[in-house]
Amino acid sequence: MADHPLVAMDFPPFEHLLYYEKVHGARLNISYSNIREFHLDGFGRRLPRDLDLNWTFRNGTPELRRLIARRHHANSQQVLVTTGATEGNFLVNASLVHPRDRVLVDVPIYSPLRDVPRGVGANVIEIPRDCRNGWRLDLDRWRKLAARKAPFRELAFDDTSPSVAEFGPRMIALSTVTKVCGLGTLRVGWIVGAPDLLDRFAGVKDYTTGGGSVLSQTIATWALGRWDFFLRRAKRILDVNRRIAMEALRETPALQGAVPSCGSVLFPHSTVNVAKLANRLLKQHRTVIAEGRFFGVPDHFRLGLGGETQDLKRGLANLRRLLRSAF
Ligand SMILES: Cc1ncc(COP(=O)(O)O)c(C=O)c1O
Repeated sequence: MADHPLVAMDFPPFEHLLYYEKVHGARLNISYSNIREFHLDGFGRRLPRDLDLNWTFRNGTPELRRLIARRHHANSQQVLVTTGATEGNFLVNASLVHPRDRVLVDVPIYSPLRDVPRGVGANVIEIPRDCRNGWRLDLDRWRKLAARKAPFRELAFDDTSPSVAEFGPRMIALSTVTKVCGLGTLRVGWIVGAPDLLDRFAGVKDYTTGGGSVLSQTIATWALGRWDFFLRRAKRILDVNRRIAMEALRETPALQGAVPSCGSVLFPHSTVNVAKLANRLLKQHRTVIAEGRFFGVPDHFRLGLGGETQDLKRGLANLRRLLRSAF
């Protein structure tokens, strides 16, 4: 790619998102990484009738920033509210990454973390993990890690690691209300980092969304105010679903791998071709799994543990039935 400031950006298609668009009407989707949806009436509150719908704050509403800062042991000046973690990821890359920069990424990976830096011209180096040693991070290969994204960090509950933002001015934390709370359509995420970096991100955000939705940020403020409630809710759901997934894996020889004790997803290894498996599962049982190719591990697939327990049971039963009969 020519080293020219006006060089065209070239973003690979977001295959995983396009796939979800395609299979939207399917009966069961047991691959989502969110905790199941939360409904507005669960807050038991009304939106303020005098909410000013004509003004928004460039960096996010002050109360929301304060609550986010508290969760990261930071201060409000270190918080920039974004349109989901998706925009946060884009802003960080668009601001800091230049054509031909080296960007290290962890694999399996949520593809935008790999493909946005690729889109702005970086030389992306994938550092694979291996399921045979429990997906352990190969620390020796991670000498120069500058940013880490952790929308699932708090789904480790008692074992929650500190926010990376606490490790110094070169570290950036990204998160969202999507995963823990099941509030994805609010499109509220955030970046926590040093104020000089946030200024750069905000400067790009001025051209993407400007200020975010005050309506969404009001509801997200309610959620941040009840974060411990959301963590308890998530834990309750995940504990039950984790046991169900463990049982299913134990009884399915074609699938290998442990159910992790934290987070909301697992990536079993499949001895049968994953593309064929996903295709037949969709056609014969209207059930969706997320093929590992979306995450850089084609002989695996992703299952989500945050959904309705009955759906997970039915979806896993379909998966096992198919594996017994067709392969
Ligand atoms: C690692 C990761 N980051 C970000 C997102 C999207 O977050 P948001 O809905 O806040 O844009 C996802 C959704 O699957 C994800 O897995």
